[in-house]
Amino acid sequence: MEDLDLLQEAASEAEAAKDSRTLYEVKMKFLGRTGKVTGLLKSMKELAAEARPAFGKRVNALREALEEKFAALEEKLKRKELEEKLAGEQIDVTLPGRRAKEGALHPVTRVKDKLIDLFSGMGFEVFEGPEIENEYYNFTALNTPADHPARDMQDTFYLTEEFLLRTQTSAGQIRVMEQKKPPIKILSPGRVFRSDDDATHSPMFHQMEGLVVDKGITLCDLQGMLDEFAKKMFSETSKTRLRPSYFPFTEPSVEVDVSCAACGGKGCSLCKGTGWIEVLGAGMVNRRVLENCSVDPDVYSGFAFGMGIERIAMLKYGLGNIKLLTENDTRFLEQFKD
Ligand code: PHE
Repeated sequence: MEDLDLLQEAASEAEAAKDSRTLYEVKMKFLGRTGKVTGLLKSMKELAAEARPAFGKRVNALREALEEKFAALEEKLKRKELEEKLAGEQIDVTLPGRRAKEGALHPVTRVKDKLIDLFSGMGFEVFEGPEIENEYYNFTALNTPADHPARDMQDTFYLTEEFLLRTQTSAGQIRVMEQKKPPIKILSPGRVFRSDDDATHSPMFHQMEGLVVDKGITLCDLQGMLDEFAKKMFSETSKTRLRPSYFPFTEPSVEVDVSCAACGGKGCSLCKGTGWIEVLGAGMVNRRVLENCSVDPDVYSGFAFGMGIERIAMLKYGLGNIKLLTENDTRFLEQFKD
């Protein structure tokens, strides 16, 4: 009657199991490789040969009965567990959703993208030069030798005697002309560094450089292109004016003013009563610069311009202090969403 006892024992333990894991353990205890029922089968070899068939039949019947029992209980427990899991995971569809905080592009990035968009529409390609430059690209090749007073115009962060943080994206002009023969029409955005710090100057800021070199390029081409730029960047009624200036790498050099968008040129506090706002430096590429890059100045001519992206952003959005652009105050930055 050993098998009946075993059936009883297994059934009551199985029924007591509260979850499918415990049930599985009980199952292994009886039906597993080292389980009690399996043990019975193994003990068969100790019996006399005639007794074996009857014994084997009984143990097999017991095993089948137990397997059925376990399968039924297992299904019941699994269903119960699934129901509990689903009940626990119920979601309240009436709860308001959690909104993802929406980011926005930084005003400097917006102006930079707008400039690239605007100038690439006129056929300019983007070239990006390195932020760490040597004296040759940043100064010497731009017709600014070591003893040139114009080096003082840009207080430079030197890294070593030779290497420095570029003070102007104009360094890229040389790199482009070394790599490419005219016609050249490039736009070079990037960070520049100067030891300069007040309400309108920051030691790191962004510039956008433009360079056009081809046969027959004149100052009129520059002015025509700048007019287009002012209209697209500020307002349809914006005008530009060129004032004589000086840069070692351009000759003649000009300072470019745009009519004040705030007062329409009548004069206000933003333009200090003049009706004009200075936005960039430009000029015809100095023939010495062309020569330094093996471009024949008797065949080719070109113009270059360089503008501060922060300055354009300040004018466009009416900002009084350049530091607003680097403080990362989200209350300020949030205002530049489309
Ligand atoms: N590199 C000049 C500056 O940083 C701007 C400039 C660029 C002027 C190209 C003329 C031509 O002030």
